[in-house]
Amino acid sequence: MLNPENNEGTKIIENEQLYLREFTSDDFDDLCQILEDKETMYAYEAPFTKEKVKDWLTWNMTSYKENGFGLWAIIDQTSHAFVGQCGIVYSDVESESLLEIGYLVNKRYWNRGYASSASQLCLTYAKHELHAKRIHSIIRDNNSASQKVAEKNGMTIIHEFDKDYSGQAIRHFVYSIDLNK
Ligand SMILES: CC(C)(COP(=O)(O)OP(=O)(O)OC[C@H]1O[C@@H](n2cnc3c(N)ncnc32)[C@H](O)[C@@H]1OP(=O)(O)O)[C@@H](O)C(=O)NCCC(=O)NCCS
Repeated sequence: MLNPENNEGTKIIENEQLYLREFTSDDFDDLCQILEDKETMYAYEAPFTKEKVKDWLTWNMTSYKENGFGLWAIIDQTSHAFVGQCGIVYSDVESESLLEIGYLVNKRYWNRGYASSASQLCLTYAKHELHAKRIHSIIRDNNSASQKVAEKNGMTIIHEFDKDYSGQAIRHFVYSIDLNK
């Protein structure tokens, strides 16, 4: 739960349903609930250990300083619950660094529109604050829910490639949208 008396992260952007704010170290337990969960992490190589969650938090907090963006906490406007994470990161695809919108929602809150709503805010942020010309979402071929969100964001597949998951080639799609249109 977001406690206003705690070390609250900077608010980035909002709509009626939710707002996105920077992570703080107080978010560790909420992030563990998402990143340590096997079902949530099915599209990734494996669920995270606590050590990897710590690295994830540090990676995002460093990105706020270096890039001005990263993955942010999705907070429900009414309940103030930490429902997930969504934001903008750089991702490597075959030696190219692409600007990506990423999202992971706590499974308690799936299918309530949070990822769609939060990623729409990120599209607005990328276009108007970062003046990005194009943004992507990189999604495993069997991740239908994530693909649905990308399609609702107006993205289409522009490329396919394999990511190495411990020696196994796993197909991924690069979804993309031209922000100038
Ligand atoms: C992908 C994810 C972030 C979506 O979050 P969410 O808040 O539930 O997303 P939304 O409610 O905004 O939209 C989900 C859409 O996918 C649809 N959907 C859900 N499960 C689906 C499935 N198995 N097959 C097809 N569509 C599915 C929903 O019906 C909804 O579409 P609709 O609005 O047209 O009904 C969430 O499932 C998640 O955290 N998954 C695990 C982490 C992950 O894979 N992240 C993305 C990595 S690329």
